[in-house]
Amino acid sequence: MTIASLPSQAVGPEAPIDPAVLARMANALFAALPGTPPSSVPALGSAGVPAGVQAPVNIAPPGSPLVSPAGFGPSVPGTPFPQGIAPGANLLPASPTPLASLAHRAPALLPHAQAGNGLPDTVVTALPAYEPRVGGAALGVPEASGATAQQSATHPATGAVPYYFLDTSHGHPAAGGADPGRAADPLDALAGLPFTGHAAPPQAAGIPAGAGVPQATPSVEPKFYFVDAVVLPGGYVTPAKPAPHGTAPVADQGRHPAFDVNAVRRDFPILAERVNGRQLVWLDNAATTHKPRSVIERIRYFYEHENSNIHRAAHALAARATDAYEGARERVRQFINAPDVNEVIFVRGTTEAINLVAKSWGAQHVGEGDEIIVSHLEHHANIVPWQQLASAKGARLRVIPVDGSGQVLLDDYKKLLNDRTRIVAVTQVSNALGTVVPVKEIVELAHRAGAKALVDGAQSVSHMRVDVQDIGADFFVFSGHKVFGPTGIGVVWGKREMLEDMPPWQGGGNMIADVTFEKTVFQPIPNTFEAGTGNIADAVGLGAAIDYVNKIGIENIARHEHDLLAYGTERLREIPGLRLIGTASEKASVMSFVLRGYSTEEVGKALNAEGIAVRTGHHCAQPILRRFGVETTVRPSLAFYNTFGEIDQLATVVRRLASQRRAG
Ligand code: ALA
Repeated sequence: MTIASLPSQAVGPEAPIDPAVLARMANALFAALPGTPPSSVPALGSAGVPAGVQAPVNIAPPGSPLVSPAGFGPSVPGTPFPQGIAPGANLLPASPTPLASLAHRAPALLPHAQAGNGLPDTVVTALPAYEPRVGGAALGVPEASGATAQQSATHPATGAVPYYFLDTSHGHPAAGGADPGRAADPLDALAGLPFTGHAAPPQAAGIPAGAGVPQATPSVEPKFYFVDAVVLPGGYVTPAKPAPHGTAPVADQGRHPAFDVNAVRRDFPILAERVNGRQLVWLDNAATTHKPRSVIERIRYFYEHENSNIHRAAHALAARATDAYEGARERVRQFINAPDVNEVIFVRGTTEAINLVAKSWGAQHVGEGDEIIVSHLEHHANIVPWQQLASAKGARLRVIPVDGSGQVLLDDYKKLLNDRTRIVAVTQVSNALGTVVPVKEIVELAHRAGAKALVDGAQSVSHMRVDVQDIGADFFVFSGHKVFGPTGIGVVWGKREMLEDMPPWQGGGNMIADVTFEKTVFQPIPNTFEAGTGNIADAVGLGAAIDYVNKIGIENIARHEHDLLAYGTERLREIPGLRLIGTASEKASVMSFVLRGYSTEEVGKALNAEGIAVRTGHHCAQPILRRFGVETTVRPSLAFYNTFGEIDQLATVVRRLASQRRAG
């Protein structure tokens, strides 16, 4: 088939386009591309293709306008649909195809505004118009996202092609026209179709370079971004080297790709929000993170195309929903490097996760006179359940102290360990201070003393690579909403032998092998701990969030955030009357402070008036704040979509307050 033989259709920019027709045209076009066998259509603009998963083509569920009997099928080739829906079947949802980016007209991108802070960062002032992805099911979703669509458009103001990462030659694509170094792109054949342009896609996991995916090869010299050292206001020089504390693989050090924060920001619709007439500056990431469009779209896709209860019913939607849910479980497994997908249990969040362990494992294994160790840094969620357990059992809660910087004192910890210690529960990153805790060492010492260990990863998973096998804890817990996923979904990972030795903590459907009035036989893990209908859609959303993080690369995230944190700390530290609370040498994300002459609430309000969101208060971590003689702090907290410019805005407001300080 040639381009000329594509179905003719009035597809001018203003013409109403039937997405199904458009998709069919795209299907035909891709099938016609030279050297593109049907099974290897380049995954242009795809998001989150799992490693080793071939992007299927022509996938369309029955009943859709694009049914392709040859292409549609179960996740496991060769098995009839609906397929077996056993939990933990490790089935990843069908991966996206390039057609997803062609499912609708390219959105009209509105111009960006300069952040007005003298820095090169630009921010989105308005959302691109976005059209519903009608017919997305026909395009081999579930992974395609609005973000993908946005990447398919040339920026009208600059002509720059948005990239996630530049290649090793570094440098933001040149403004004012097509990237001269861009490789020949098969989508150029679409010039006559109503798309305003398209970008070379980010490298998607599992799609090898050269496998039909055009590589971004900008030929321009770096201008803005901090691949190499850059001097910012105040003389601060961004580090040109990767972050310390092992966040970057050795092989990566010194030659990591540039991180284009502006491209990343376009994936987060809410970052375009205006608050009090200002562009939103979201510095409350420790409370919750924002969601990329791919996550929002994935949840919507679930409800539009897959919604069903799981693990039951012999119908197609039950199979789709189960595949999606179990696919998310597998994504979690990979994300934290758990050895066994069935060790991943979905719960509501970190709080429920710790309660599960305390109320199930704790009830069984902690007795009178036993001891439970937590650190002084803990969030209330990692104190109260243990306190309740200790109180119910006549056990004792013991606390690892911290030094003046907010780092745990390992020598004091060693002295707390004894043969009555049953479990040590510690956070990996303090939500109030940002301290990165040496959890591996703490776990090892706990084990040597014969105790078990739980690590609270609520504040760590979005900032650093987590490997539960390396950490060695018995339990690792985290929340989806802190890692760019939805609220109401979280994870307990536990070693199989631990989980299998624990009674269910709730009873009901979904966890049953057999029930009589005399007795109940439970399903094996993970279902033992997932009684009732869980938060299926949001588990799927969490899977999409993990795909997104993987696409950006957690090492890139860690590196950018490290640079932001170093810069922000320096900017705040120099403000007269400002006291940083938490100054450990190993920190992530958080810059807690108090300002002389102001309540923390007053500072929060002044920031909010400028559109800057921070949390003020006790951060559900009263013991550690009291350790530093305060009841509350102002707590800006960072994510990878934050910019140096936003930190300048924060510092400007706080500095202004400091200069207007009331006498006395
Ligand atoms: N744990 C969340 C915080 O630190 C809510 O703000």
